[in-house]
Amino acid sequence: MLKTNKLITKKTKIYIAGQRGMVGSAIWRALEKKGYSNLIGKTSAELDLRNQQAVLDFYNQKQPEVVIDAAAKVGGILANNDFPYQFLMENMQIQNNLIDGAHKGGIEKFIFLGSSCIYPKFAPQPLREEYLLTDSLEPTNEWYAIAKITGVKACQSIRKQYQKEYVSLMPTNLYGSFDNFDLQSSHVLPAMLRKFHEAKLNKHSDVTLWGTGKPMREFLFVDDMAEAVLYALENELPEYLYNIGTGKDITIKELAETIQKVIGHQGNILWDACKPDGTPRKLMDVSKIKKLGWQYSTELEDGIKKTYQWFLENIDTIKEIKL
Ligand SMILES: NC(=O)c1ccc[n+]([C@@H]2O[C@H](COP(=O)([O-])OP(=O)(O)OC[C@H]3O[C@@H](n4cnc5c(N)ncnc54)[C@H](OP(=O)(O)O)[C@@H]3O)[C@@H](O)[C@H]2O)c1
Repeated sequence: MLKTNKLITKKTKIYIAGQRGMVGSAIWRALEKKGYSNLIGKTSAELDLRNQQAVLDFYNQKQPEVVIDAAAKVGGILANNDFPYQFLMENMQIQNNLIDGAHKGGIEKFIFLGSSCIYPKFAPQPLREEYLLTDSLEPTNEWYAIAKITGVKACQSIRKQYQKEYVSLMPTNLYGSFDNFDLQSSHVLPAMLRKFHEAKLNKHSDVTLWGTGKPMREFLFVDDMAEAVLYALENELPEYLYNIGTGKDITIKELAETIQKVIGHQGNILWDACKPDGTPRKLMDVSKIKKLGWQYSTELEDGIKKTYQWFLENIDTIKEIKL
């Protein structure tokens, strides 16, 4: 039986690291909507999480009771491939400072966000939590994946040794408002959305996409992810690691056609097969979290419609992370 965490109230002081990012801002909105009134956050300019002393001082000064770690150096295949050291080291620095500082500061609850790339490249599908560390990783993002795996293990070891509620959630590919729409550094869905939008404006010119279109991927609307974090906050999850996704995948080609339809682009789609495809299939087995009572609610086409609406409303200020 899942136990509600009775220590969590609407007044609990909750620090959301990375609260300005796509995931962090969705978590902030979800918690605020549910009535949580004691949320704290800092931008990277105000608090550089790579700086251990600055993180310790922040914890000392603010005394949060719960930490949700949605801060990370994030990027697509190209960014991961070109900047392996930064993806490995900066992510380890950020999470080590947050996790170790929280543990030493007596914080009892910590929610760590990783990614489905922690699982081996050729692990059986759908990916189950127990496949972690059973084979080699996808080489293009192994740096990021290894950093995230050390975060999962740090939380697991604190849980095991000190019986604290340190839990890791591994989201599948996320999309939604406040995503990164830069064509060089973004993930596949926002990159496609932008390409189709621009091609539509450009008299429905053809759109060239990376790879063969054959790989299969799963996508979760970021506001659903935030609901999963809320669930992990309010309940005592009995295990150290949970996959978060829809449990359904589609080909990249089907994704492109869905986005094309939502945007109303009428040109051709061309595939540049010289560009890498990445892992052939990545589908999460989400039965563990589902059994506990959480599941997604936004279907892909609806989520893409909401994201496109947000993109149009925020076109002048959309995020473009430069490499
Ligand atoms: N996006 C996805 O598809 C996806 C999928 C699976 C898992 N996740 C996980 O979700 C988490 C958040 O991802 P996201 O997509 O929300 O990324 P994002 O939009 O790039 O946001 C990352 C956040 O991290 C903060 N940050 C980065 N470096 C920092 C530093 N040195 N000091 C302080 N803050 C720093 C940024 O702060 P500033 O904005 O203030 O600079 C930003 O708010 C990550 O752990 C990621 O692995 C994301």
